[in-house]
Amino acid sequence: MAAALKIAPSILAADFARLGEEVRAVDAAGADYIHIDVMDGHFVPNITLGPQVVKALRPHSRKPFDVHLMIQPVDPFIEAFAAAGSDLITVHIEAGPHLDRSLQLIRALGRKAGVTMNPATPPAAIEYVLDQVDLVLVMSVNPGFGGQTLIPAAVDKVRRVRAMIGERPIELEVDGGIGPENVGAVAAAGADVIVAGSAIFASGDYPAAIADLRRRALAARASA
Ligand code: DX5
Ligand code: ZN
Repeated sequence: MAAALKIAPSILAADFARLGEEVRAVDAAGADYIHIDVMDGHFVPNITLGPQVVKALRPHSRKPFDVHLMIQPVDPFIEAFAAAGSDLITVHIEAGPHLDRSLQLIRALGRKAGVTMNPATPPAAIEYVLDQVDLVLVMSVNPGFGGQTLIPAAVDKVRRVRAMIGERPIELEVDGGIGPENVGAVAAAGADVIVAGSAIFASGDYPAAIADLRRRALAARASA
């Protein structure tokens, strides 16, 4: 049986002055995960938020917090993000020389571990950590900003990663530039967790936007 199709609104596109309220709104609107983008102005050319904000948001939703770390170094901060209430912590292959150690650390802290790669990184880079992760995230834009356009090669990468995952209990997430016009293509290629920032937060109707993405993804998957 195919895995459930999950929608993970990225709060990067939310109103940061009302972040708690925004998290409650997408939770009530049907979000499966709350996707939280952490940027450091070093690994990526933008700065967002740290563990203190994750902790402050925690009481606003019981949905899993899907924390995407775009920081370098990453290892010294994993414990703080785990303690702040992250359920799933995703690290970039490119962020450090010891990916295996980062993933072990996340699981040792009792959290789910995710690995992700930039658009230019070949999927073979995750081959030797596949038995240590709960999720693989395929970046469909260069990380750093919301509202970018999906890089078409990411669809093929999703298909290749899906084949690499095989029967392992690993979720396949895709992030960046996803909207009603292309969610079907990534779902048909094998993505089962869809991150969307602008497509949800700029829509003006969160429940309708989430339902529309889910409906299109499920329809495309069914006819793939
Ligand atoms: C980009 C982030 C994404 C991004 C998604 O670095 O990882 O989560 O905010 O936003 P949209 O859906 O607007 O591309
Ligand atoms: Zn993200």
